[in-house]
Amino acid sequence: MTYIGSATSRIDGRDKVTGAAKYAAEHNAPGLAHGSVVTSSIAKGRIVRIDASEALRVDGVIDVLSHENRPHMASSDSGYKDEVAPEGSPFRPLYDDKIKFSGQPIALVVAEELEIARFAASLVRVEYEEEAHVTDIYRQRDAAIAVKKPATPEEAIFAPPPPRGTADAALAAAKVRHTGEYYVPIEHHNPMELYASTAMFGEDGKLTIFDKTQGVQNVQRYVCGVFEMKPDDVRVMSPFMGGGFGSGLRPQFQVVLAVLAARALKRSVQVALTRQQMYVIGYRPAMIQRIELGADGGGTLDAITQEAITVTSQYENFYRQETGWSSLLYRCANAKYAHKLARLDLATSCDMRAPSAATGLYALECAMDELAVALKLDPVELRLRCYSDRDQIADRPYSSKKLRECYRQGAEAFGWAKRNPEPRAMRDGNELVGWGMATGIWEALQVPITVRIVLTANAHAEVSCATSDIGTGTYTIMAQVAADMLGLPLEHITIKLGDSTLPQSPVEGGSWIAASVSNGIATTSEAIRKDLLRLARRMPSSPLADAAPEDVTLADGKLVSKRDASRAVPIVDAMRHGGVDRIEQEQATSFADDGSRAHNTHSAIFAEVKVDEQLGVIRVTRVVNAVAGGRILNTKTATSQIMGGVVWGIGMALHEETLVDHHFGRIMNANIAEYHVPVNADVHDIKVIFVEEQDDTINPLGIKGLGEIGIVGVAAAVANAVYHATGKRVRDLPITLDKLMRN
Ligand code: MOS
Repeated sequence: MTYIGSATSRIDGRDKVTGAAKYAAEHNAPGLAHGSVVTSSIAKGRIVRIDASEALRVDGVIDVLSHENRPHMASSDSGYKDEVAPEGSPFRPLYDDKIKFSGQPIALVVAEELEIARFAASLVRVEYEEEAHVTDIYRQRDAAIAVKKPATPEEAIFAPPPPRGTADAALAAAKVRHTGEYYVPIEHHNPMELYASTAMFGEDGKLTIFDKTQGVQNVQRYVCGVFEMKPDDVRVMSPFMGGGFGSGLRPQFQVVLAVLAARALKRSVQVALTRQQMYVIGYRPAMIQRIELGADGGGTLDAITQEAITVTSQYENFYRQETGWSSLLYRCANAKYAHKLARLDLATSCDMRAPSAATGLYALECAMDELAVALKLDPVELRLRCYSDRDQIADRPYSSKKLRECYRQGAEAFGWAKRNPEPRAMRDGNELVGWGMATGIWEALQVPITVRIVLTANAHAEVSCATSDIGTGTYTIMAQVAADMLGLPLEHITIKLGDSTLPQSPVEGGSWIAASVSNGIATTSEAIRKDLLRLARRMPSSPLADAAPEDVTLADGKLVSKRDASRAVPIVDAMRHGGVDRIEQEQATSFADDGSRAHNTHSAIFAEVKVDEQLGVIRVTRVVNAVAGGRILNTKTATSQIMGGVVWGIGMALHEETLVDHHFGRIMNANIAEYHVPVNADVHDIKVIFVEEQDDTINPLGIKGLGEIGIVGVAAAVANAVYHATGKRVRDLPITLDKLMRN
């Protein structure tokens, strides 16, 4: 293999930097109208009256749509849901007069020009009947409801893990205990590309929609469900995406509005959200976590209890396995977990990069650091003493787990051995220097997927699948895998994705597409190889006349005998002799999992901070993230994934926080000027290490996926470094200088 494992540059990179790659709001259509969304200024209640008369008088305004005059939509009880919908009743814009959260879309002004639509939207007057709302997780803390008992294996994935042993008794008997409460605020994804949909209305009433989404087929089915349309009448395209991070797993409301308007007006309509409106769609749920750890004097864990309270809306219960990660990671015989939901008058929370692991591990890994301090033990040493070669929930081995190597290589690259364990013991001029570390874990998931390959007589191949490339590099790794599997140069491979008419794929998320689509390409390539061999064997005096399919491989544009490399037939010759100008294969791949092994990726993060002693300003000067993530398909895009995750982890630790004014129930910093993310000046030296990890059972290519593991544990490593620098433990994120200075 020549391409798999290389540092191949993105094959779509040129299109992206030159502007040739078109995003959802960059498509045009004859007579395209533009929609501007009017949003609710109250958090709860109902709309009494919408007065659009002034807006309708503006030149160029075509219509103002609301629940009063919209076209038909299926009732919310009709059963359709999107692929990743949680339990409950999904929100639909313009459905009725009820207000469920501030910023809720309540009307769409459609005009000939975007500017006209936006101006006219400011003229729509709305009268409300207001009800009392609650948007504060702390106020709902006591009223939080327990997540429901799982009824199916699917539900069990997100339920708190079952208890082990006798956690309360073990805690009471433990020589050393640590109890702490940790808080992560609401955070938003803030992808660069704004959510947008261009719904092109065909003469036959069929729709082609360019949508910003992580799953074109998910949106296609959803639109068909909402508008009771036939599958053939809706095509959804998303060839490029300017960042999703989970915010595009579920269809967003602008696609419903664009389709609604296109159907009402029988013309093409584009709806793009503003940056402020991007804060109305999902968010990472705020999370209060209480953790208790008990250890014996030797530094092995005797007991863990963890309770998590997260945020959801009043109409859907969104949650993930907030406590599942701490249950899985360390050897501990006694454990107990609880997970509750605070239902608030906000939109439903949703997946955001490494959902529940980024947050759950933040608390666990800070608590482990505090326990290490109490035990007077090096934090790495504590983790090694609690190291587990078996999944602690299901008591089974891992398909592979090179976490020990992550600790070793990460510590070595960082220079951890030189750490003075005393807080405030290390200095650099005016700054206190702190070194902290943490562990990361994520799942190596796989999903059923279908790949089509068309090989043409000039030895070029088109590989297609309805998956997305949300910016992670899917185009590139697909081309690399296809080139190696088909024995062709990379330039001979064309990738088609992000189109609902292509072969089946679930949403791109959960870090599951790289493994799934790569093995899908391998499976389909095998079928192509068999077709080629059939042709090659029929050639006169064929050197492969008696070769069996498993005896040949595709390399350098040829079918080659594995036993004797001199016995080979060029692909073009085999096709020409057979009189075939194209070979097409489409194969569905699923991944048999007998449940005998746990599949996870792991990491060890080491962070250095420098804290100005007088001002409390924190800089993250160095981070080493050592990752064990199976076979690395592309060292360049993989490094970018992990580096991006580290940057985001720095933001989680020090900057990010969505602030809600609880009086109005409204997000106050719905813009990227006041919602702080790390900028170049906040990002210093980041080193990514991929620990070699061979996995022979997870899938034929040994791929685990890397989209999310990069952020997990980073916030804890930074927080632990801040403690080490200052001797001050701030448990509620983000660690801003006011919290550090407060006594
Ligand atoms: Mo990811 S949070 O599954 O896009």
